[in-house]
Amino acid sequence: MGKPILGHLLRCSFLDVPQGVRLRRSALHTASTSASQMVILFRHGPLIPLFEPSKAISDLPPYLFVRLVELKRVAKNQGKDIIDLGMGNPDLPTAPHIISALHDSSRDSLTHRYPPNKGTSEFLEAVSIFYKRRFNVTVDPTSEVLALIGSKEGLGHIFFAITNPGDTVIIPSPAYPAHTNAPYLSRTKPYWAVLEEKNNFLVDFAGIPEKVLRKAKLMILNYPNNPTGAVIEDKNYLKEALRLAKKHGFLLIYDNAYSEITFDGYRAPSILEFPDAKKYAVEFNSLSKTYSMAGWRLGYVLGNAKVIKFLEKFKSFLDYGAPAFTQHAGVIALKGGGEEHVAKVYEKRRDVLVEALAAYANWDVPKPKGSMYLWAKLPKEFSRSTSLKFAEKLLLDTGVCVSPGTGFGAGGEGFVRIALVDCEERLREAAQRIGTFLKSPKKQPARLP
Ligand SMILES: Cc1ncc(COP(=O)(O)O)c(C=O)c1O
Repeated sequence: MGKPILGHLLRCSFLDVPQGVRLRRSALHTASTSASQMVILFRHGPLIPLFEPSKAISDLPPYLFVRLVELKRVAKNQGKDIIDLGMGNPDLPTAPHIISALHDSSRDSLTHRYPPNKGTSEFLEAVSIFYKRRFNVTVDPTSEVLALIGSKEGLGHIFFAITNPGDTVIIPSPAYPAHTNAPYLSRTKPYWAVLEEKNNFLVDFAGIPEKVLRKAKLMILNYPNNPTGAVIEDKNYLKEALRLAKKHGFLLIYDNAYSEITFDGYRAPSILEFPDAKKYAVEFNSLSKTYSMAGWRLGYVLGNAKVIKFLEKFKSFLDYGAPAFTQHAGVIALKGGGEEHVAKVYEKRRDVLVEALAAYANWDVPKPKGSMYLWAKLPKEFSRSTSLKFAEKLLLDTGVCVSPGTGFGAGGEGFVRIALVDCEERLREAAQRIGTFLKSPKKQPARLP
């Protein structure tokens, strides 16, 4: 009688123990060694159910970045000095005037209460003023803007606000992982629009089958692009995206998280610059990269009022908006200007790294006009390998961490993404180490942990 129950019990983790069930490690250990003592265990409370992940969770592809975190730990334990250019996690500090605003605002007891679900009126207003100043776009702050707890949150949740399971969605590949993973969570059917070098990493609209366009509920575009660094050079491309959205009745989701991180005089457009765009599009933006506020978790979406309303409703059942003191600091950031300063830092780093990779590693990597990443084809020494193997070996051998292209979807194979999130000196050092690594491939470990 005891056996199946015992087996069931032993597969449970202590984290799984529901509140109120008093089950101690010693009791479980005793249960595994003595059937008679199992009775004691049962007296403590009900049997613990065996929890399984939902289908949505188990269908999610393996998170390659977790593997890199593990390898970073291994490399560190082996005494390696890690240069982490893997995650797009800005290393620049938030400007002091923004931090002061947070301090002041945190002392105002009004900010200790729940914030308005859609965002504070001053934040929504500041977003609309920023869009006017920057893009000459007019939005109504009361109905066409919504504050987000980081734009990633909204990018994931919008699928639940406007799609049903089984709906077709058009997602680029490679793409920012929140884009590639949203279909798994929302049970929608992705059509992967592969971004190819020959198309300057733009979604090839003509290559999307008509029947996919007809069925699509939404399409995501992100320029300046993560991970490829591609930008929109010809605004007619965006007009064509809007024409397709209008013709087929899908929502165009434009992710403009890197709108201010652009180089060589290039200025990124907003999808909302185009007449009627608000009928077919919403745009996501973020304070994370523009103002080096990634840890503050503050973003926003603006555009189509109906869609904003649906997302606001969905969110009202999940969270209660971004903290009011963070939003107040966001207001100061948006009003303060100085966005060019951050972009200049990344531009200089881009130049330093591209030149150092060519000089030390004979690795030619194009200079992107936007984003904070280099999108590099695997070096010729590894052209027959995978991006994951290259990234793993590089990390273990040199301590330099880059992201494998497949972390951004299957369309990213053959590339790695290098984030410009360390100072110029460390970027040069990374290039030197990569150069040494590529010149001595035999030194690479035969087997990875
Ligand atoms: C393309 C893109 N969109 C959105 C985000 C998310 O930004 P946030 O910090 O606002 O969630 C990122 C973050 O790396 C990104 O690369």
